[in-house]
Amino acid sequence: MLDSMEKTIVAPSVLSADFADFGGALASIADSGADWVHLDVMDGQFVPNLTFGPKLVEDLRRLSSAFFDAHLMVETPELLAPAFAAAGADAITFHLEATVHAHRLLQTIRGLGKKAGISIVPSTPVAMLGDLLPYTDLVLVMTVNPGFGGQDIIPECLDKVRFLADARQKRGLAYLIAVDGGIHEQSAPAAIAAGADVLVTGSAFFNAQDKAAFVRQLREKK
Ligand code: DX5
Ligand code: ZN
Repeated sequence: MLDSMEKTIVAPSVLSADFADFGGALASIADSGADWVHLDVMDGQFVPNLTFGPKLVEDLRRLSSAFFDAHLMVETPELLAPAFAAAGADAITFHLEATVHAHRLLQTIRGLGKKAGISIVPSTPVAMLGDLLPYTDLVLVMTVNPGFGGQDIIPECLDKVRFLADARQKRGLAYLIAVDGGIHEQSAPAAIAAGADVLVTGSAFFNAQDKAAFVRQLREKK
C-alpha cells in the first residue's frame, strides 16, 4: 500500500474522534473509503497534550485490518516505538526533534518489519532531514504546530513538501510525503500540488456530514 502513489492517500486522524467510541471512529473511517487510520500519540512533554498508548492500538488492531499510521509526538520515541510495533501499527513515525539518534531509530523500526517515518515541526528546516531520506519510508511534514486538531495550516510549510518531492526525484528515492494539520477541502489542492502523497485530516473529516464525499473531494486534484 505504501508503494502506490497514483492516488492520494487520505488518513483520517482519530484525534478528532469521540474518545469514548474509537471503534465507531474506525467504522466511520472504513465506511468513508479513506485509506489509512492516523493515530496521534502525545505524551504531554513533546507536545502540550496527552492522548493514548499502545494498548489502544492493540485493541483497535483486533477490530480492523486497515493500515495503522502511528504518529508519535513523544520525547525519546526509541523507548516506545517497539511497543507500537508489537501492538500492530503498520507505520511508525517519530519526530526528528525528539531524539538524537533518528538514524538508528529508523533502522530499528524497519528491522521490526514496519514502515519507518520521520516528522518535523514547522520550525525545523527540512534540510535537516537530508541524510536520513534514504532510510525513511514516510516523511510527515507538520503543517501546524503539533498538539491539537482544528488549527489553520501554515502555508509556508508546503515549501518543505516541494523540497522533499524534488529531493526524492533527484536522488531516486521512494518515500511518501505526508502533510498533517489544517488539511481540508480548501487546503488539500495546494498540498497535493506541492507533492503530498498522504493527507492527514482530523477535524475536517470528523466534522464532515458526508464523509465519503469529503474523502473523494480531498483526493481531487484541482
Ligand atoms: C496534530 C496532529 C494531527 C491532527 C490534525 O498535532 O498530529 O494529526 O489530528 O488535525 P486537523 O486536521 O484538525 O488539523
Ligand atoms: Zn498526526
